[in-house]
Amino acid sequence: MARRFLICGGCGFIGSSFVEHLWLKYPDSEIIVLDVLTYAGSLDNLGELHTESRLQFLEADICDIGALPGLEDVQFDLVVNFAAETHVDRSLYYTSDFVRTNVLGTDSLLSFCRKTDSPILQISTDEVYGPARENETFGETAALNPSSPYAASKASADLLVMAAIKTFGQKAAIVRTSNNYGPRQFPEKLIPYFIYLARQGKPLPVYGDGKQQRSWLYVDDFCSALLRVVDDFPTGEILNIGATREYTNLEVVRQLTTILECETPVNHVADRPAHDRRYRIDSRKFEQRYGGINERDLSDGLRQTVAWYQSHPEIFDRLRTQDVANFRDKHYHNRT
Ligand code: NAD
Ligand code: DAU
Repeated sequence: MARRFLICGGCGFIGSSFVEHLWLKYPDSEIIVLDVLTYAGSLDNLGELHTESRLQFLEADICDIGALPGLEDVQFDLVVNFAAETHVDRSLYYTSDFVRTNVLGTDSLLSFCRKTDSPILQISTDEVYGPARENETFGETAALNPSSPYAASKASADLLVMAAIKTFGQKAAIVRTSNNYGPRQFPEKLIPYFIYLARQGKPLPVYGDGKQQRSWLYVDDFCSALLRVVDDFPTGEILNIGATREYTNLEVVRQLTTILECETPVNHVADRPAHDRRYRIDSRKFEQRYGGINERDLSDGLRQTVAWYQSHPEIFDRLRTQDVANFRDKHYHNRT
């Protein structure tokens, strides 16, 4: 029988890439993309797919999923939750939006999935473990130690998923990944934002000393790995899927400006409050069960990313919406 998937947040950066992967791997499947289309989501991210008959788009909020007509009795082969408020800087100003979608929204989805007996995969982040010391790596049983309101909301969602597994025996699992990058990422995040600024010859605002370390995973490489759990669902498990190599922000910026062939100056601005110096997750549990994560080199991934943004400059228009402008006024006001 044809499979039926529900992909929440499928009009965002990673969700839309996952929909593409799912579409290709399961040509008979029916895919419902549910997304409320915040400033960060766009139907354009689905390209031609949203006109295809086996993909249905529902403009809806995950918090309301229990009351959506037509979905009440639908059992899905898998529900994947990418829907979230995701920008750490915004979580400093709009904390309640993060609590609403990331915590209450996840709770609504868990209830819906219990009612319809659908397995749910919650997409989480390395940020829930908080900062890793030098040489320290976090496995799935490490303590949760979130720093920002964003990370705290994601950790809270993870706790709800874990509680549902224990309390109700719910068919649920969590995947925690590291920094993804690639096409269609909303240009508020480091890599696309700096491409946007560099194209205009504007200085690049590096927070603090720029020596914070992140493990960058190309979005297609993450989604290819994630696809493997569809056929062998890890009920009750938490799995880390992170990039192997880590880079300082300054190194990423150096590689980016080399590819862009620009000499835009770096401007060291005030640091992000509670800015975690380093994230580091251990993906061996995933690799032992599903095989290695095939990841491209950062330089190759950055080249592909830059090429995509150069051929889709219209994505930068999304920075002009009132919502994004309001945030930027607040965030960059008085920043030196
Ligand atoms: P994104 O901000 O690009 O997309 C989020 C999507 O969710 C958007 O399409 C938005 O419209 C939708 N959405 C927001 N609130 C919603 C709601 N209440 N109901 C329905 N839809 C809603 O995010 P992303 O970078 O693609 O991240 C996807 C998931 O992966 C998130 O859960 C995030 O925490 C996690 N994650 C992201 C990264 C990363 O580097 N981007 C790394 C680790 C984990
Ligand atoms: O680690 C996974 C997380 O990666 C995800 O859970 C989040 O949803 C995602 O947004 C991302 O969070 P980061 O805070 O790491 O991403 P961001 O692109 O905002 O920043 C990357 C690094 O660059 C971080 O150390 C902050 C720094 N930075 C960012 C911006 C936007 C700057 O120095 N200057 C900037 O203007």
